[in-house]
Amino acid sequence: MEGETEIKKDDLAALEGVGPAMASKLKSGGLTTVEAIIVTPPREMAEKTGIGFNTCLKIAAAARKLVHVDFITAEELWKKRQNMLRCSTGSKNIDTLLGGGIETQAMTEFIGEYGVGKTQICLMLCVFAQLPSEKGGLDGKVVYVDTEGTFMPERVYEIASAMGLDSHETLENIFLARAYNSSHQCLLIDRLSEFCPENNVKLVIVDSMIGHFRGEYIGREHLSERQQKLNGLLHRLLRLTEAFNLSVVVTNQVQANPAQFFGDPNRPAGGHVMAHACTHRVYLRKGSKGTRLAKIIDSPYLPENSTRFRITEKGIEDVED
Ligand code: GTP
Ligand code: MG
Repeated sequence: MEGETEIKKDDLAALEGVGPAMASKLKSGGLTTVEAIIVTPPREMAEKTGIGFNTCLKIAAAARKLVHVDFITAEELWKKRQNMLRCSTGSKNIDTLLGGGIETQAMTEFIGEYGVGKTQICLMLCVFAQLPSEKGGLDGKVVYVDTEGTFMPERVYEIASAMGLDSHETLENIFLARAYNSSHQCLLIDRLSEFCPENNVKLVIVDSMIGHFRGEYIGREHLSERQQKLNGLLHRLLRLTEAFNLSVVVTNQVQANPAQFFGDPNRPAGGHVMAHACTHRVYLRKGSKGTRLAKIIDSPYLPENSTRFRITEKGIEDVED
């Protein structure tokens, strides 16, 4: 199991049947690590590198052999999950809802309409993730993939100051990437299997995961292509969480469901693909007097509880029920 969590960057040469020429072809196609080879479907690998499909199948098999990802015992999985860390959101209520904070080895999704506080929660996590574990952090750095240009350093500065931290240092530990379209977003996420271990990144945020995809693939005829790309991307992120014991947090929008006559007419965008890939899904809604409601809507073990919080100058804070 050790081999799986500690995948080194330059071990392409360790792959059976991969010589220096093949390794450089793989690298030029963006497949710079064994981890990247494992998470990339062979057909995509062939397209990216120009290596024949059958050879790609062999390389993928060699990569899997190297890190023993085929079968593990439940006992091994249990041990691996003992390494799981949790990061506070700054709100005790939300942390409790999440069973103690957002998890590593998992992808957590915050869903909700505009202005509900998705980005604010992400900014809080950017600050908390840097704290040592006894203070509710992951003791690591942060990657923030911003697809909407709404990452505000001033806001992070303010939150860090309110916590008595060195705001400049806090900002230094957040690596920003502005994704201008969905292909750019894919490219950036592709780089993470190399970037995260090199920079001790423990939290990856994608805000928002789906915005570009919704904007670019319009109409039913493009839906399956969109969903396929989105699925590939989500699985790459999911694999990162396991390979490097880190947390991935994505935000998602809601879309109106015209077939709904009663209750909340909104549902998460991204359909089944988003629903299946995300480990824990948290639905946010505006409440009375400026409060916000957070509810677990899908999780393998968290109960479907809900809680309230509010957005203040300090970030997000609890509301007493
Ligand atoms: P979209 O990205 O548009 O989908 O929305 P979002 O869910 O990301 O919303 P976001 O997290 O940006 O939350 C915006 C809300 O936070 C607004 O209602 C703002 O009023 C509130 N907000 C932002 N900064 C502050 C602040 O410094 N003080 C207070 N009190 N509220 C703030
Ligand atoms: Mg936002």
